[in-house]
Amino acid sequence: MDKLAELYPAHLDYVRQQYDRALSATGYDSVAVHGGAEHMIFLDDMPYPFKPAAHFKWWLPVNNPNCFVAYTPGQKPVLVYWQPVDYWYKPAADPEGYWTSLFDIRLVANAEEAEKHLPKKGKVAFLGEWAEHFGNWGLKEANPKPLESRLHWSRTWKTDYEVECIRRANEVSVRGHKAAEKAFRSGASEFEIHIAYLAATEHNEHQLPYGNIVAVNQNAAVLHYQHQERERSKEGNLHSFLLDAGAVVNGYASDITRTYSRERDEFQQLIDLTDEFQQQMANSVKPGLDYKEFHLEAHRHVGDVLHKMKFIDVDGEEAVKRRITSTFFPHGLGHFLGLQVHDVAGFHKDESGETIAKPEGHPYLRLTRLIEPRMVFTVEPGIYFIDSLLGELRKSDESKHVNWEKVDSFRKFGGVRIEDDILVTETGNENLTRPYFAA
Ligand code: GLY
Ligand code: MN
Ligand code: MN
Repeated sequence: MDKLAELYPAHLDYVRQQYDRALSATGYDSVAVHGGAEHMIFLDDMPYPFKPAAHFKWWLPVNNPNCFVAYTPGQKPVLVYWQPVDYWYKPAADPEGYWTSLFDIRLVANAEEAEKHLPKKGKVAFLGEWAEHFGNWGLKEANPKPLESRLHWSRTWKTDYEVECIRRANEVSVRGHKAAEKAFRSGASEFEIHIAYLAATEHNEHQLPYGNIVAVNQNAAVLHYQHQERERSKEGNLHSFLLDAGAVVNGYASDITRTYSRERDEFQQLIDLTDEFQQQMANSVKPGLDYKEFHLEAHRHVGDVLHKMKFIDVDGEEAVKRRITSTFFPHGLGHFLGLQVHDVAGFHKDESGETIAKPEGHPYLRLTRLIEPRMVFTVEPGIYFIDSLLGELRKSDESKHVNWEKVDSFRKFGGVRIEDDILVTETGNENLTRPYFAA
């Protein structure tokens, strides 16, 4: 039997238990979880790509619009499965797979039929994207915050099934990263590299967990660079390559970044030093760690690398104090990963939804919690040469600590980021990414 088939029943039990607790604590008898609908482009007859809602994907791996999971504690969950009569588009195939026997499946061809299968008795909560006609169905309690924050809180701890999905998403993604590196080394354009990645991962664009970041040369200085240049760099003009790209397995994402230098040059040294401290940090992950402290530790490493390579004349500790490192490392060290790339509950203090503040001066950190077993998050330090941020540093009092000639000579490389996905275990961690690069 496939491992996912073995692991799924325990996952569903966990999801059910979390719903049982959350519904009871918030005073609901049942819930209707909507997977979402297709949306039309303005004044057009074509839809945007459909993306199922995370609440829905937590229950089961169905990627089909207009579906619902209807659940009443103590009863078998109902899947309302959309299968219209349509000869313009191919309707979803009959539900199939290891999860089907655990649901009471109702095939529906239209909205009237769907409505009949949703819970009506008692207090019913609705989760998902709201549409006006749901009001006519008697639904009104849309996305109540106390329920939502309890469910988000529960998604903090990944089941074995979820971990296996993320592990497989890493395996698929690394195939793409290897193909992309090869394409880069052969002089391919960003667009050609992107296509090589899609082919190797067997993903189309809409299936990616986020738009591929395929950044050659100074484009790597744009943190979420979103274009793909069609033109190849001229020989002698090709310096560096940063790829931030993931994959999806059963709704679960991977999120991986690697950076390459064309030559064995000083930029390669910067990559190696970043990779070294990234690995050291990733290996040190264990329960009890405070991710806020972890983020600040990364800043000290960034400062030390900048010092060691003579970009600045103060050490890591001092560079952090003077906020110099924020110019070169302006994003958070990482974030939860799961059904969403930036998964929920990164700031939760408890299940009520109260939050843990970010450290002052670090507005883009997305994870402020104490680390516990079963969390999955990224560790993704970076060092970039971003014109706008360097411009501010140059005008500041700290400018005197910067070797500007050296910094200027690195602008053409854009920057480096190394990103792995880490599972926290009882005693330490498992790096979900690295083994596939080694294989
Ligand atoms: N790929 C987006 C991120 O690393 O957060
Ligand atoms: Mn990330
Ligand atoms: Mn990423």
